[in-house]
Amino acid sequence: MSKVDVVLGSFYGDEGKGKIIDYLAKDADVALRATGGNNAGHTIKVDGVKYAFHLIPSGILNDGTIAIIGNGVVVDPKVLLEEIKSLEENGKSAENLKISTKAHVIFPYHIGMDSLLESTRGENKIGTTNRGIGPCYQDKFERCGIRIEDLYRKEFYEKLKYNIEYKNKIFKLYGKEEYDLDKIYNEYIEYADKIKPYVCDTVSLIHDCLDNDKKIVCEGAQAALLDIDFGSYPFVTSSNPTIGGILSGSGIGASSLGEVVGVLKAYSSRVGEGPYITEQKNEIGDTIRELGHEYGTTTKRPRRCGWLDLPALKYATQINGLTSLAVNHLDTIGKLDEIKLCVGYNYEGEIIDKFTTNEDICKKLTPIYETFEGNFGDISNYKDYDELPTKAKKYIDSIEEFTKVKVKYIGVGPGREQMIVR
Ligand code: GDP
Ligand code: IMO
Ligand code: MG
Repeated sequence: MSKVDVVLGSFYGDEGKGKIIDYLAKDADVALRATGGNNAGHTIKVDGVKYAFHLIPSGILNDGTIAIIGNGVVVDPKVLLEEIKSLEENGKSAENLKISTKAHVIFPYHIGMDSLLESTRGENKIGTTNRGIGPCYQDKFERCGIRIEDLYRKEFYEKLKYNIEYKNKIFKLYGKEEYDLDKIYNEYIEYADKIKPYVCDTVSLIHDCLDNDKKIVCEGAQAALLDIDFGSYPFVTSSNPTIGGILSGSGIGASSLGEVVGVLKAYSSRVGEGPYITEQKNEIGDTIRELGHEYGTTTKRPRRCGWLDLPALKYATQINGLTSLAVNHLDTIGKLDEIKLCVGYNYEGEIIDKFTTNEDICKKLTPIYETFEGNFGDISNYKDYDELPTKAKKYIDSIEEFTKVKVKYIGVGPGREQMIVR
């Protein structure tokens, strides 16, 4: 039986997972998304054309690769149809797309609730992508959620009615506009009709593929430090973008796991609120943002930028059981004169090398940095590790030494071919 390779975000998202998955999926039979929804934004640059995927696994760019949206994903059908259209406009086909019957559906009231909740949080807002992700997962776990398969059942109207009536009471209480049951019902019946050719039992499909030795790659969304359990709660997303979520969001068993690749940037970034120990709220952060074009793929928000935090990375390797690392943007960080790498923290005079998500402790941590020489020169066309200047290798070696995980992939530019594979 074949093994499934998984690509996961190791920090706060936007590490360049799309790019790595695109590389790994080039000879894959199946590319799979198992968690999150269209809060994700995965950018891939192929032959000068930039693609941004939110829901459909990026692997769909390879002709013949089956792209599966697994049961753990929350699906906004309007966004999905737009994404299919945009693919087709770029001359790509979506005929290999499969959507799980068990995936939950995002409705307009989820998006309305997302913004209402953010406004009630005031200063403590999370900075969500406002795509209705949290409220949709909330319904899933409350057990009133509507699955893709429900869209085709006679009970759909009643389930929708229950949800809208209940939620409208809350919207009314806050003086917000209420939702019209029949309007939404008719809109979603139309979406259901359009997405029907793609809907299937993806668990069974995945296991048929495994039994037939097909190559499956799994595209993580979000990242370890945004995980609902392991991240900087409550400044997290509402799913488990770590390895457990991949299994429960797809129906793949633990014994089928192959390589688990953790993706990171040679620096770090975060979009949205919450603690970020190595953030550079200064000229350095601004420079990194501009050099790395760090503006959100989904919300276009400027990303907070800072140095790479090795204890945080180590934590991500532990909770995911990472077997290798992919370091993107080595070209970007190599443009700085001097690079810093966080190797521990000073906590009230005590040196610690363990990451924590405890907000009170985080506030008191001062990062301890090792300094590296920058100015790597133009490395954007390098294909071999040995071509890299010694100072760049030294930086990569330090990441490996601290985490005890091999850096197998190194991104030297946004393009598909701009990668060193060791
Ligand atoms: P994802 O959400 O993890 O897939 O990452 P995003 O697509 O949101 O953000 C990563 C950004 O970095 C995108 O604009 C990519 O095109 C870009 N990128 C990825 N790898 C590299 C790299 O090695 N060098 C440079 N310069 N850009 C990269
Ligand atoms: P990719 O897959 C970066 C962040 C949001 C917010 C928090 C909760 O592109 O790496 P949500 O809308 O999920 O309830 O927002 O999580 N967030 C991301 N940040 N990359 C992402 O996805 C993200 N998905 C969610 O900014 O802080
Ligand atoms: Mg992204």
